[in-house]
Amino acid sequence: MKAIITLLIFSMLLISFKTVAQPNNKKSSMATPAPSNGTQKATCILNPTKGNNVSGTITFTKVKEGIKVVADIQGLTPGKHGFHIHDKGDCSAPDGSSAGGHFNPAGMEHNGPPDMMRHAGDLGNLEAKADGKAHYEYVDLLISFEGTNSIIGKSIIVHEKADDFVTQPTGNSGGRLACGVIDISK
Ligand code: CU
Ligand code: ZN
Repeated sequence: MKAIITLLIFSMLLISFKTVAQPNNKKSSMATPAPSNGTQKATCILNPTKGNNVSGTITFTKVKEGIKVVADIQGLTPGKHGFHIHDKGDCSAPDGSSAGGHFNPAGMEHNGPPDMMRHAGDLGNLEAKADGKAHYEYVDLLISFEGTNSIIGKSIIVHEKADDFVTQPTGNSGGRLACGVIDISK
């Protein structure tokens, strides 16, 4: 008899737990209308470092394949210029050195896209036309808005020279002409 009562109480407890748990689940799924999608877009405004005149805007948009990077930069000398995501979201130093080295969460060697064996921040080169303007458009498979490869709060640097994709760990792209921090777009 005692055992039956215990079982009865136990099953009643289970039922009441269930009825409490269900509306809670519903509530939390309703509070997040776009579950697991998170950040869809990020922006970076580039400002010139001291003594330079390079500026621009970069947008990062989540697409099916990865992150689409679109950059429009002006004030460059014609030709190729290294274009990287750097490790620290800090452009306070006049020469941009506060941005640190290339964003490299996986501890890879420097390289360029579309190679996947590279620093996550290795976005290759911009190519400026005679008017000093460069347009860059590329869908990257390595960078992300979440997890270890998240670029949110990192920085972008545009360099003086072309990235050679060989020299470690910088690509020998010279001085830092512009710097900006990557922020979530609202
Ligand atoms: Cu760089
Ligand atoms: Zn690199």
